[in-house]
Order: sequence, then structure tokens, then C-alpha cells
Amino acid sequence: MLPSFIADRRVELVAAADPRDEARRRFAADFGGRTCESIEELCADKSVEVVYVATPHQLHARHVAIAAGQRKHVLVEKPMALTLEQCAEMIQSVRRAGVQMVVGHSHSFDAPYRRAREIVASGAVGKPRMISAFNFTDFLYRPRRPEELDTAQGGGAVFSQGAHQIDIVRLLGGGRVKSVRAATGAWDRSRPTEGAYAALLSFEDGLFATAVYSGYAHFDSDEFAGWIGEMGQRKDLAAYGKVRKALARAGSAQREAELKVARNYGGAEYAPAKPSAALHQHFGEVVVSCEHADLRPLPTGVMIYGDGEARLDPLPTPKVSREEVIDELYAAVAQGHKPVHGGDWAMATLEVCLAILKSARDGSEIALKHQTSLPAP
Ligand SMILES: NC(=O)c1ccc[n+]([C@@H]2O[C@H](COP(=O)([O-])OP(=O)(O)OC[C@H]3O[C@@H](n4cnc5c(N)ncnc54)[C@H](O)[C@@H]3O)[C@@H](O)[C@H]2O)c1
Repeated sequence: MLPSFIADRRVELVAAADPRDEARRRFAADFGGRTCESIEELCADKSVEVVYVATPHQLHARHVAIAAGQRKHVLVEKPMALTLEQCAEMIQSVRRAGVQMVVGHSHSFDAPYRRAREIVASGAVGKPRMISAFNFTDFLYRPRRPEELDTAQGGGAVFSQGAHQIDIVRLLGGGRVKSVRAATGAWDRSRPTEGAYAALLSFEDGLFATAVYSGYAHFDSDEFAGWIGEMGQRKDLAAYGKVRKALARAGSAQREAELKVARNYGGAEYAPAKPSAALHQHFGEVVVSCEHADLRPLPTGVMIYGDGEARLDPLPTPKVSREEVIDELYAAVAQGHKPVHGGDWAMATLEVCLAILKSARDGSEIALKHQTSLPAP
């Protein structure tokens, strides 16, 4: 999110907290802002209006409670938390404080998915009947902290990547999933968490969706996006296999975690992301089958495969990546609008992710109870 914050005039970076000294020093050098060792200290700062919580998954609930306790608005990274109880507490704490909470970034903020939803909601192509989403990546072989390979601590593809893909599917389908049947794969003993899943989601109105993810992949589904990667950038095909090779060189869990820290903000190998991407960000292949057309969100817009013609509904190239997140946050904080990706919405996405894990464990279909509809446009 940092490049988006820097490029957006609505955001001023005034303070930051991180236990890592190198991150604090870099923040002070980059932004001249105040730095703190603890989030408590950061949240006590009167000049801070909004806190962006981008800490490890298992800390989100506690950090949001601290921020809300000091009446700060919150942007909290996905997944919202690890349990539905934590989500309910987070929602309560921001309500009590009278502040806003937006959960993201998730790729359901990306303009092509929002545009596809608008087309569906307009009724122009008839009812949506089926959504097919799949994404093949090398997710599991990127450098990780040990907790990221432990499902109990929010690790694995379902918590990390389901938070994107399920959010997209729910957004396109209107939000209310009735039940989930799923299988997960944990195929690599050296990385003992789920790296893959396949889920069948039944919505309340008869719509159904399949969400398939492999973080073990050698095949890269960005091939279907014209070799435009998740961040909207053109992919370097010569980099094939680079992630696995780098991990093999790391050799141990400790060295791997050090590698991750080195690439983190302030670390020796930190390289700032580019503020603007060539095209829109995306999360793999998605097709929405409607009565009169198939819709396919792409990094360039939405392909509409109708009865008589197939055409691209183009979207202008984004000026700044993830600007959509700041639009929603700003509308919530400055104008009091209810965010699409608020606490109730994100809790419902987590409910689906937890149901994927449970269904895979128990071999059963899981009925859902906390689903929400998209707010009216
Ligand atoms: N939306 C996306 O596309 C996307 C991409 C990557 C990561 N994420 C999310 O960002 C979050 C962080 O993931 P990551 O991979 O960047 O992890 P990371 O380990 O690289 O970074 C976590 C940061 O939190 C800091 N931290 C740890 N404990 C802290 C504490 N008690 N107080 C303050 N700071 C603390 C660490 O020092 C580090 O700077 C996760 O929720 C992850 O899912 C989202």
C-alpha cells in the first residue's frame, strides 16, 4: 500500500510503529514522521487520524482493538482476523468508538471486478448463474515467516489467498453464500500448511461458484492474463522458477525468515514497489456466466461475451495502483459513507474461508450464518 499512500494527496504519513529498528529508521528518513516501537504509542499520538494495520494475521484483532480504543479509524489488511469471534469483537470496538473500519487491500477492490459487478447489477446481461475463479501461483514458495506456514496462526493459502479470491467471488455474486463444500491440499511436508484448495460455494439465490487456488503451481495462470501479473505489471518470462531456486538457496527456516525481513521495509534488500502499474491488478482468471453473456474481468477492462458479439468494456489505465482502497477509506472517514469492505463484509468472507478449512477437514458441507449483501450503490 505504501506507493499508493505516497502518491495520494489525501494521505499524509505522520507516524509509524514497528518493532524493527531498521523500519523505523527508514520511515523517519523517508517521511520525516514520528516513529514508535509499539502500536500503543502510535495510537496515543493525537496527530494520527487513521491507522493502517499491516501486521501478521494473528495480531490484527489486538491491533485494531488498540487503535479503536484510541478512537482511530482503521484500515486493516486481509484476512480480517483468525476467528469469527475476533471479527465480532473488532466490529464492536470500532462501533463503540464511533470510527470506521475498512478491511483490505483485497483484490475485490480492483476496478475490473467492480465494473463486472456493476454490469451484473444493471441487469443488462441477465441473472448471474455461475462464477468460475482460478489462480495458479508459486505462493507457498515465497520467503515466509514460520507462522505463515502454520494454519493455526493464520498461515496457508486459505487465510492469505482465499481472502482475495473469496472476496472477489462474493462481490461478483452479491455477497450471500449459503453453503460451502471444499477440499484443501497440503502436499509439501516441508511447508506444513494448505497450499491449495478447491471450493464450491452455493449462494442463497441459486447462483453457484467454484474457487480454485494452487500456491504449489509450476504453471502460472497469469499466462491467461496476457502475462500481466497480480500487481498489473508485465511479467518477466525469464524469471521462471526464480522463487523456488531462491528458497532452495536459503536452506533453513531461519535463513528464509531473514530473507523475508531483508526484503521488508527498511531491510537491506528492500525495493520500493512502483507507484503506478501498466494495467489493473488482478487475482487470476474469473468468469461470470450470466443468462445472456459471460463476463471476464481482465487487467484492461471487462470482456463481455454476448449472444452476437464479444467486446471489451475498457477501463482507463490506473493512475495509481490500489487507489480504489483510498477512495473507499476516504469516503468512509471524511464523508461518513458505509464502506463496501467494512467489518461485516470481511467477517462474512472469513466465514467462507473458515468453512473451506472445516469442510475439507470433516468432509461435510458447511452452512453459513454471517453472510452480508453488498451495500446498495
Ligand atoms: N493485500 C495484499 O495484496 C497483501 C500482500 C502482502 C501482505 N498482505 C498482508 O499484510 C499483512 C502483513 O503481511 P506481510 O507479508 O507484509 O508480513 P511481514 O512480516 O512482511 O510484515 C509485517 C510487519 O509487521 C511488523 N510487526 C510485527 N509485529 C508487530 C507489532 N507487534 N507491532 C507493529 N508492527 C509489527 C513487522 O516488523 C513487519 O514490518 C498481512 O495481513 C498480509 O496478509 C497483503
